[in-house]
Amino acid sequence: MYFKQILDERCGCASYLVASRQSHEAAIIDPSVHIQQYEELLQERNFRLRYVIDTHVHADHISGARQVRAKHAAELCLHESAQVTYAFRPLKDGEELALGQLRLRVLHTPGHRAEMMSILVVNPPRSPEPSMVLTGDSLLVGDVGRPDFGGGDASEQYESMTRLLRLPDWVAVFPGHFEGPCGKGMCGRPNTTIGFERLYNPLVRLDRGAFISILSEGVPARPLNMTAIEPTNRGLADMPWAMLTSALPIREIDIEALENRPPDTAVFDVREPPEYAHGHTPGAINIPQADLASRLDEIPRDRPVILICQAGIRSFRAAQFLAQVGVAQVASVQGGTAAWRKAGKSVSVEDTSVEAPRVTESEWTHAGGGSSAQV
Ligand SMILES: [Fe+2]
Repeated sequence: MYFKQILDERCGCASYLVASRQSHEAAIIDPSVHIQQYEELLQERNFRLRYVIDTHVHADHISGARQVRAKHAAELCLHESAQVTYAFRPLKDGEELALGQLRLRVLHTPGHRAEMMSILVVNPPRSPEPSMVLTGDSLLVGDVGRPDFGGGDASEQYESMTRLLRLPDWVAVFPGHFEGPCGKGMCGRPNTTIGFERLYNPLVRLDRGAFISILSEGVPARPLNMTAIEPTNRGLADMPWAMLTSALPIREIDIEALENRPPDTAVFDVREPPEYAHGHTPGAINIPQADLASRLDEIPRDRPVILICQAGIRSFRAAQFLAQVGVAQVASVQGGTAAWRKAGKSVSVEDTSVEAPRVTESEWTHAGGGSSAQV
């Protein structure tokens, strides 16, 4: 057996290449858009790609699955409930894919999304039991995937976590994310075991009610460009550029510079609508980071643009994305709206009758976050 975990530091995602050394057949699970790395591995090892599997329709990064499939006579596999516009091999719970002597067994684990599935890797000559499970965004290291990405369900996530934790202790867990916006309390380690998570995952001791309320409150903001990325991965849109793939330097400005900005400057608040409604810097227009790529035509190209969020990380990454797509004069407010309030400046309040913000600030600082402040 051959197994490789490939970590993408830019989006906090993990993808996998599993192959039989005997038959040279390979499967790639959750490929990123950087498909060259898989091509090189396949070539180096003389593997023949049989399956490309997306554990679910991703909302935070563009999948490379269709790109990889286009280069090989491989089957693109998703759970049978996936709502996509392109052809795929629909997999059912319990179904097995043969990969030489190996078996990839499907375990439907909805919760993060309805079509979420985990893949058990079984090597029958070694053992009738699985030795590892690729959990996508169901069970994460010290966490589970958040259920608010479209079609997710906290109660189903509880069932899926419980089901996964019934696997034997020794089963190695390889998730789809080691950091990033798909969970809110990931440990940062790229793998774990079922036994360790059963003992130490903070969510496993909760009863169903407590689990659901923890998952439903205090979620991180929706990911950057989610409303462009998710439809692209479903084949409904074609915006493969809607992903932050660079780490361009961004000018950060302080509160004084924001206050004394040139009059033709456009200021955008990239927080979620309830955060904005409950108080924003005067003059800022709300474009949540999730909608930035979908609303790109609202960003002026001929005058300065300033982005602000709660504490400076979301706006920094959003500014990196704007710079990546050619917005030249873009800056990010260091410390964000929190610094503005702290400095005693007044905020504009839109409508406090809207739901109070339930966005939890997280310390997801990788991918060019630029500081250790909260998002
Ligand atoms: Fe996900």
